[in-house]
This record gives sequence, structure tokens and C-alpha cells, in this order.
Amino acid sequence: YGRGVSTAPSSPSSPPPAPELFTWEFATDPYPAYAWLREHAPVHKATLPSGVEAWLVTRYADARQALADQRLSKNPAHHDEPAHAKGKTGIPGERKAELMTHLLNIDPPDHTRLRRLVSKAFTPRRVAEFAPRVQELTDRLIDDIISKQHSVEKGSADLIHEFAFPLPIYAICDLLGVPAEDQDDFRDWAGMMIRHGGGPRGGVARSVKKMRGYLLELIHKKREEPGEDLISGLIRASDHGEHLTENEAAAMAFILLFAGFETTVNLIGNGVYALLRNPEQRAVLQDSLAAGETGLLETGIEELLRYDGPVELATWRFATEALSIGGQDIPAGDPVLVVLAAADRDPARFAEPDTLDLARRDNQHLGYGHGIHYCLGAPLARLEGQTALATLLTRLPDLRLGADPTELRWRGGLIMRGLRTLPVEFSAS
Ligand code: HEM
Repeated sequence: YGRGVSTAPSSPSSPPPAPELFTWEFATDPYPAYAWLREHAPVHKATLPSGVEAWLVTRYADARQALADQRLSKNPAHHDEPAHAKGKTGIPGERKAELMTHLLNIDPPDHTRLRRLVSKAFTPRRVAEFAPRVQELTDRLIDDIISKQHSVEKGSADLIHEFAFPLPIYAICDLLGVPAEDQDDFRDWAGMMIRHGGGPRGGVARSVKKMRGYLLELIHKKREEPGEDLISGLIRASDHGEHLTENEAAAMAFILLFAGFETTVNLIGNGVYALLRNPEQRAVLQDSLAAGETGLLETGIEELLRYDGPVELATWRFATEALSIGGQDIPAGDPVLVVLAAADRDPARFAEPDTLDLARRDNQHLGYGHGIHYCLGAPLARLEGQTALATLLTRLPDLRLGADPTELRWRGGLIMRGLRTLPVEFSAS
């Protein structure tokens, strides 16, 4: 990140100059560049900051089709990578650690088997029963924010650090069955991973190792003494006599943490930010919450996912054979990245795509993906997102941005989109 990587214009009709991708400006607001790509180079070969070349798919129809195309494998072994770049590209799964063999890195039939097993334990019902606990965690974090204020009239907080970041980590730890006294270790390990972009180098490698050791031990304990938690559920889950091995259960717990953590931080962070930048929409939502309605909150969370969702690019896919997307030929072995953030602003699919409309009904966005890898945690993400936003807007009704938007910094990761900090102000009465 920080280095500009030019895209070669590929349209003959000399459009406005091609935008630079992966610069700081792009990290702050990638949407103009995506609009250009959708129009002039909808399936576009870009050089990523890591040096890898990958196809970016930016139109909604192409994106949806690519996400469901079984010829695009999730297994990095299909990547036809130049020998000199081996192991240096940051493509997850080049790392051979057992934790990396998880749902997002595998294809059918293994994927089908593991997903069926985890779905038996991680059910919508389990998530629904978890709702009071999420409310409790949310209230506790807001209590902490309010109680540390020196001035009642002018409270302030960093909503990422003090709210959006801890909520999902405590929630997933609780759900998995990590005892309360160990949850702050997870908070530290997760903080290390989010700050350093998820690539297991240095401190991050140590954090991943510690997390793995901890999860394996916990699985061991839960096997001896099962409870009602999700880890015990994963151990118990069986399908036609098949069970998860201990390593598979550990990899599953890890991917639930990993896939469910930074995403939800960014759903809350990007969501609150979008509401603060769109005061009329925020006022309508606040009125509807005050009237005890939940309809606008439900459509609103989906709209926030479409408008500025946490997952900017879907995770890596690789062409297992030569194929064509949107008329563009793609050779076997090439990586394909589906740009969810671009597809979800495609005017060919969404009316006024750059407008935040919390009441939008025709909203089949791709924020949770599509096809067999569709987000397994969507019900939990919805629960956390709805609880977080509703509680914040109700308990801190005059919440406002505490910094100029130009001062805010976005994390420059390839896959995720989210703010580093979100300074806010409020009356802490
Ligand atoms: C997959 C988005 C929260 C667990 C995915 C994918 C997307 C996504 C786009 C598909 C990636 C691809 O096809 O390359 C989100 C968003 C979230 C969120 C926007 C929050 C707002 C969660 C939570 C959990 C979770 C809370 C679990 C606790 C998973 C898992 C997969 C997945 C396990 C892999 C599924 C598979 O490969 O079969 N998510 N996610 N996610 N998500 Fe989420």
C-alpha cells in the first residue's frame, strides 16, 4: 500500500485517464476508481501491491456469476505462480499451517462435507438464542465509554477501539465457549492480527500460533467436559457417522474467529460512519427506533453492507481451466478477485447506487458473497450489526463525528475495507 499501481487503459474510445489503484486516495474512497473500471475495463488485470497480477471483476452480473462458478477454485494450489514469487505474495494458504485448511480455502467435496458439519452446530437458532448476550455485551461497552467521560456535555471516544473492535471478539469468544478470563488474550491476539494485516509474520505469526495452541487445548477440554457452547457443538456434530477431527475443529473455530471478527468491526465502523455522513437518513432511523420499529433497522443494515460493506474484495479464487468472464478470456492458473464493493454500486443493478437509502427493498447485494461460500456467519453479523447500531443511536442520541472526514485513515488491506479510528463526540447524560 501507498505505492500507486497504474492500470493500463483497455478501451479504444479514449475514456478519462485510468485511475491509480491501491494508493492512499484509493483506500479512502475507492468508488470513483471502481466506477471507471466497471465502465471501461470491467474484467481488468491489475498488479496488486504484492506484485501478483490478478483479474478484478467489477460488474454486478459478472461478479455474481463468478462467485458461483465452480471452475474458480478456492484452493491456492491452483495458482499458477511464477517460481520467484512463491511464498511472497501473501495469498493465504501458501502457508501450509493446518489452520489455513478451512472453508474459504477448499472446494467440494471437502468443502461440502465440512460446511455441512459446521452448519449442524452453528445454526440460526443458536444465534437467535445468543441475542440477549449480544445486547448485554453492547450495553457493557457503552457503559464503559460513558463512565470514563470527564465532561457530561462533551464526551468523546474512538468508536473503533472502544466499541466496534471489542464487541465481535467478545461475542465470538462467548459463542465458542472461551472462558471469560481468557477473552482478553483473544482481544490482544486479534488486535495484533488486525493491526498487521493478517499475514502471519513476526508478531502476527506468534499470535496465530498462540491462538492455535489455545484452541487445540480448549477443544481437548471440551471433549472431556462438553458444554452448550459452539466448540462442544462442533465436536458433537456428525453427519452420516462423520465427525470433525481435532485439527478440523480447531481450523473451524479459527476461521469463525477470523472471518467473523474484522468483518463485523468494519460493519459497525463503516455503518456508523455512513450514518454520521448522512444525517437525514440517520434521523429517520433514529425516529423509527424511538417508535419501537425494527423494519428500517433491518433493511438499513443490508443497505449499509451494500453501500460501504466490510469486504471490499471477495477472497482469492483461481481459474482451474481457461474460461471467460464478461467476454474476457482468463487463462488457467490466473487469480480472480471479485470486487464486491464495485458490484454493489453497479447502476445496472441498483437504482441510484451511490445514494444511501436505508429503506431500499430491491437490495440483493453481494456483501456476504454468493454461492457455496456465502457467509456462514451472516445471521450473527446481522444480529451484532443491528444490536450495535440500534443501541448506540438510542443511548448516545446526539452522536457526532469528532474529526474532519479528511483526517480519517482507512486500513489499506486488500480484502477488507475499514477505518483505523472513528473519533466521535456525544453528550454522556
Ligand atoms: C464467508 C462477508 C461476518 C463466517 C464470507 C464471504 C463474505 C463474507 C463476502 C464469502 C467470501 C468469498 O466467497 O470469497 C461477511 C461480512 C460479515 C461477515 C460482510 C459481517 C458483516 C461473519 C461472521 C462469521 C463469518 C460473524 C462467523 C462467526 C464466515 C465463514 C465464511 C464466510 C466461515 C466461509 C464460508 C464458506 O467458505 O463456506 N463472509 N462475513 N462471517 N464468513 Fe462471513
